[in-house]
Amino acid sequence: MAEERNRLVHTFGALAELGQEVSNKQNFQDTMRTSLHLLLGSLGIMRGGVARYSQFGHELNMIAVRGLGESFPLSLSLCTEDERQFLINGLQPIEISQAKVLPFFQVYDQSLERAGLEMYVPLIIRDESVGAVFLGPKATNEPYTTDDREIICAMARHIGVAISQRNMMAELERHANENRKLYDSLRMTYNDTVRAFAAAIDRKDKYTEGHSVRVGKYSEIIAEELGWKELEIEGAAVAGYLHDVGKITVERKIINAPYRINAKESAELNKHPGVGYEILSPIEHPYAEVPLAAKYHHERIDGRGYPDGLYDREIPYIAKVVNVADSFDAMTTDRPYKRRRPGGEVIEDLQRNCGKQFAPEIVQALFRGMYNEMTGKNKERRFRKLLGREYMETESMIPMLRAALNGNSPTSPLTYIAVD
Ligand SMILES: [Fe+2]
Ligand SMILES: [Fe+2]
Repeated sequence: MAEERNRLVHTFGALAELGQEVSNKQNFQDTMRTSLHLLLGSLGIMRGGVARYSQFGHELNMIAVRGLGESFPLSLSLCTEDERQFLINGLQPIEISQAKVLPFFQVYDQSLERAGLEMYVPLIIRDESVGAVFLGPKATNEPYTTDDREIICAMARHIGVAISQRNMMAELERHANENRKLYDSLRMTYNDTVRAFAAAIDRKDKYTEGHSVRVGKYSEIIAEELGWKELEIEGAAVAGYLHDVGKITVERKIINAPYRINAKESAELNKHPGVGYEILSPIEHPYAEVPLAAKYHHERIDGRGYPDGLYDREIPYIAKVVNVADSFDAMTTDRPYKRRRPGGEVIEDLQRNCGKQFAPEIVQALFRGMYNEMTGKNKERRFRKLLGREYMETESMIPMLRAALNGNSPTSPLTYIAVD
């Protein structure tokens, strides 16, 4: 009686250990080896193996073996009849000597015998074949009892569930990878289309050629300097590329007017944010804020912008980013009625208008991008490419930027980086 109880305690211990082992997702191979070890150990079996079923090759591939000898095949193929019988049998130990009618045991007769295997347990989990367990005789050479068979079933089920879970995980990972690839290629197509579209918008405005493309790039730089994540940075670039899309409905002669436009023409031009929003909002963008950037990129922090005269926090953040990028480009490029302004003046202007037109931390982000490039901290020549080398090589700009970066009190501590 005491012996029986001890055996029971021992078996439960092994089962618990096996449960813990199979729920450990670290290394599948190790898990399988340990599981086999526990199963053999708990019943005093000298040799055995665990195989995983591959539905593509209709074969059993050994993933853990013990004491089966070098010559035991690592892969054993099944025919339809075997698979059918194993499914009917379910997760029940089969005596190999009693199952010789099945093709599997005929084909591998010699290998099984040479390895000294006695028992075969098909791992059938939720009516699906996931593998098999092979077992040799008990070390005592006593026949397997009904209790032994039950223990074998319980432990084999644990192993089968572990394999089944592993298969599901692999399937999920494959799907996730496929989706990621599909999403990446869609995103690339979208971004390429947007860039092409920005170039098309810019063609309409011959004096400010390249404006949308540059605003896209400045918005991207600002977003990067603000520490945004990759997708948000892409979104900022797209918002910049498309901010003036509403201009495609404004008459060419107004856009291209080589003089300061009058009030009527100005009213016409000022419709472009609203029109842009109408064009962009029915489209499902990967970055939700794109239409908002088009609508509100002419709003000002002090509420004196258009079309809605929103104040600071009412203005979507992305629109504030595009607003700074847009103004920066307007100041640094030649317009039909005025030449571009020198770097120093532009810095002063942006600083003066912090809290009036611009959000201070966004201006700081732009300054930081320039400063880091001019001092060589950032090796990318993004501003130089957009503004021309000479423009960026004004010595006086560096101290101005440094002072601006240290002087302005930023509104968000997250975006503030002190510069020496
Ligand atoms: Fe605009
Ligand atoms: Fe613009």
